[in-house]
Amino acid sequence: MNAPLIDPFARAIRYLRVSVTDRCDFRCTYCMAEHMTFLPKAELLTLEELDRLCTAFVHMGVEKLRITGGEPLVRKGIMTFFRAMSRHLDSGALKELTLTTNGSQLARFAQELVDCGIRRINVSLDTLDPAKFAEITRWGRLPQVLDGIEAAKAAGLRVKINAVALKGFNEDELFPLVDWCAREGHDLTFIEVMPMGDLGGEDRLSQYWALTDLRARLAERFALTDLAERTGGPARYVRLEETGQKIGFITPLTHNFCESCNRVRLTCTGELYMCLGQEDMADLRAPLRASPDDAGLEQAIRAAIARKPKGHDFDYSRQAIAGQMTRHMSHTGG
Ligand code: GTP
Ligand code: 5AD
Ligand code: SF4
Repeated sequence: MNAPLIDPFARAIRYLRVSVTDRCDFRCTYCMAEHMTFLPKAELLTLEELDRLCTAFVHMGVEKLRITGGEPLVRKGIMTFFRAMSRHLDSGALKELTLTTNGSQLARFAQELVDCGIRRINVSLDTLDPAKFAEITRWGRLPQVLDGIEAAKAAGLRVKINAVALKGFNEDELFPLVDWCAREGHDLTFIEVMPMGDLGGEDRLSQYWALTDLRARLAERFALTDLAERTGGPARYVRLEETGQKIGFITPLTHNFCESCNRVRLTCTGELYMCLGQEDMADLRAPLRASPDDAGLEQAIRAAIARKPKGHDFDYSRQAIAGQMTRHMSHTGG
């Protein structure tokens, strides 16, 4: 094992999020424009290259690997990659291998994921209303996703539902989502919508629903107990005393959590983003391809970590909100 990755603010980097494709079979309105130009397939790192990169990070102390996209399960051959990564679980170097998915392909892949050592997955689901689901994803079919979640549960995976809180869209679904998760035994996390990606004139501010408000509404019906436990991600959790279920809050806007950041993001073309909310990135593809030896690659990774900023600067109070960050969430994998 090489020396662990420590950033300029003394934060240890133990969590790598890897976007394996920029493509997705849905087009969630807050995430992608309707007509996205996706990268030519030739631009993508091969699965072997992704393996080499992830392995280099594991050798530098990364313990948690989350595969994202786009939709990771639409990448051809992705199970080969999961299987390859599971060797780091077997060796004990990696504590968790997991993914964030829209759930559309889970019915097909749930069992194989379990076989690769995955124990817990996050599924993005913002509404339980089929018409609204079709609206927000632009054409997704809710039953397909619910079947996928069911298959994941049947295969023994723990499921955490991620719902982006959207004013005027899912405010009235707060309790239906909470109740459904209680019945099904899923954890549930709400996320504040972040001003990322140029969505063609869509007004971010009008969509923004602060989780301080959501939490206050939850507290009208349930007794909330703050939990100290963390999963290594940014969510803070409460327990609903009446049902015992766990609800997470991801609050980049109302409660900045950057001081405990432990993660960096790798895109499907080998760019390393040191922060979701900053444009600075380091190209790892060049050092990866320059030599079969990992010395140059490791040097490039350390140089990148040395540039990790203190935090994001998402801020709805600023002027040019829509233009604040043109990069789409799907590019860096959320
Ligand atoms: P757990 O392992 O369940 O804790 O997962 P996680 O919260 O690390 O991952 P998940 O994919 O569920 O993250 C949900 C969302 O939180 C992401 O899609 C992002 O929108 C947001 N998020 C995660 N990490 C960061 C971060 O470092 N900064 C900001 N601003 N948002 C983040
Ligand atoms: N703000 C907050 N969350 C977002 N996601 C996608 N775009 C945004 C955004 N602008 C979420 C998805 C999914 C995860 C990968 O990121 O809903 O849960
Ligand atoms: Fe696809 Fe997820 Fe983006 Fe929706 S949020 S378009 S499911 S990548």
